[in-house]
Amino acid sequence: MKKILLSVLLMGSMTLSAQTGVSKITIHADQGKNVINKEIYGQFAEHLGTCIYGGIWVGENSPIPNTKGYRNDVLNALKELQIPVLRWPGGCFADEYHWMDGIGPREKRSTISNNNWGGVIEDNSFGTNEFFNLCEMLGCEPYLSGNVGSGTVEELAKWIEYITSAGNSPMANLRRQNGREKPWKLKYLGVGNESWGCGGNMTPDYYSDLYRRYSTYCRDYDGNRLFKIASGASDYDYHWTETLMKNVGDRMQGISLHYYTVKGWNGSKGSATKFDKSDYLWTMGKCLEIEDVVKKHIAIMDKYDPKNRVGLMVDEWGTWWDQEPGSHSALYQQNSLRDAFVAALTLNIFNKYTERVKMANIAQIVNVLQAMILTDGPKMVLTPTYYVFDMYKVHMGATNLPLDIQCDSLVSNNKKFAAISASASKDAKGLIHITLANVDPDKEQKIDIDLANLKIKSVSGTILTAKTIDAYNTFDNPKAVVPEAFTGAKVIKSGLSVTVPAKAIISLELM
Ligand code: AHR
Repeated sequence: MKKILLSVLLMGSMTLSAQTGVSKITIHADQGKNVINKEIYGQFAEHLGTCIYGGIWVGENSPIPNTKGYRNDVLNALKELQIPVLRWPGGCFADEYHWMDGIGPREKRSTISNNNWGGVIEDNSFGTNEFFNLCEMLGCEPYLSGNVGSGTVEELAKWIEYITSAGNSPMANLRRQNGREKPWKLKYLGVGNESWGCGGNMTPDYYSDLYRRYSTYCRDYDGNRLFKIASGASDYDYHWTETLMKNVGDRMQGISLHYYTVKGWNGSKGSATKFDKSDYLWTMGKCLEIEDVVKKHIAIMDKYDPKNRVGLMVDEWGTWWDQEPGSHSALYQQNSLRDAFVAALTLNIFNKYTERVKMANIAQIVNVLQAMILTDGPKMVLTPTYYVFDMYKVHMGATNLPLDIQCDSLVSNNKKFAAISASASKDAKGLIHITLANVDPDKEQKIDIDLANLKIKSVSGTILTAKTIDAYNTFDNPKAVVPEAFTGAKVIKSGLSVTVPAKAIISLELM
């Protein structure tokens, strides 16, 4: 009884300690009401390190096999993920980006210094046309981050006109001159990025006024409809969200939130690959804290927007470790099974809050922070995080099924959290998918899954695990952490019986 109570106090009423050695998940298959916004599985690409240059864009004359300058291996791998939305060009870079530098004949484009990221020379060979073409090739929605920190209102207004106007307008004609007759569709527009920091060091009141001004001139041209996203808070800055919702909540469609699983902003952030069990558990605790952070921002939004009109857009999230030793590419880090857990746990949480969380963009897509893909010249490797996105993509656009979990707890630095994380959804074809993570690095979990009278015939699954929690894929050993068929689930009278090995992430399909 004591054990149960302690767990209830620490974990909230949904999670109880298992009393029998068998954990229990109850999936309320008959109670699903919210569709999981597919944009929760969004990505972010910044002009930072080798994310764009080298990672995605190599130019038409590169010896690396490419299609019109985009490297084929990366394109093909990204297509598999069915990316719903891609945020660009930053990040901090966005508030120093002047889009006119990046249009027209490439040889005539001006160069700039990328002051946020090591002062490297940016030749602007990847600009607006290249970004929108990439989105078309990937079949995803573009999400533009507009320059409010150092750009003018006119500049941002003209960018929208260049992209979306179909008429005989000056910017539409400039686009035509640059080889694109038809306008692109642009839905998501970020009005600044981290305006409390690299985006201008503003106060929330000052930014609110700027938001009014900049967003006024970002017009809806020729049937295009912008979904305007205010530059939101970092982590625990509830005051920022409160002030923006109060001042301009009625003028925005979304407000962003950034949350990194990071040790701190000063000093070492820890190695991506050399860590022990207590570092691992700390990481899980920090990652799971996002649930409380999201809940608190949502509570503020509920106060000012009870009709749930404004979306919470977690447009930067993921792990942030020390740069890989020996790498000359800013924010380039390896990606281990531990990172895969951060992805799995976080996506389960976003699914749960999908009613308000309308988009999330992991930072970042290639070669930066918690990347899907790492490249080195012509070499490419898929990370454990890539495989989590691949296993979880079945949730996109499916109906979230609420669930309760009774399981063991784990402890790190006095923080207690459930050893099991899970999410379930029902897709348009009626298939149920369950994603499960056993966070315990040492102990397998036997789990009974109750499906609330839903009859199923069969179950199949995929598992992502490795011998050790610090395992990772390299160019020479790309298969250290890859998904395999999972056979540890069987249909029983009340639902399913599943044995999840220690430190394993599982995706199940029920028929
Ligand atoms: O993703 C890296 C950086 O983190 C982004 O440029 C910035 O918005 C955030 O601080």
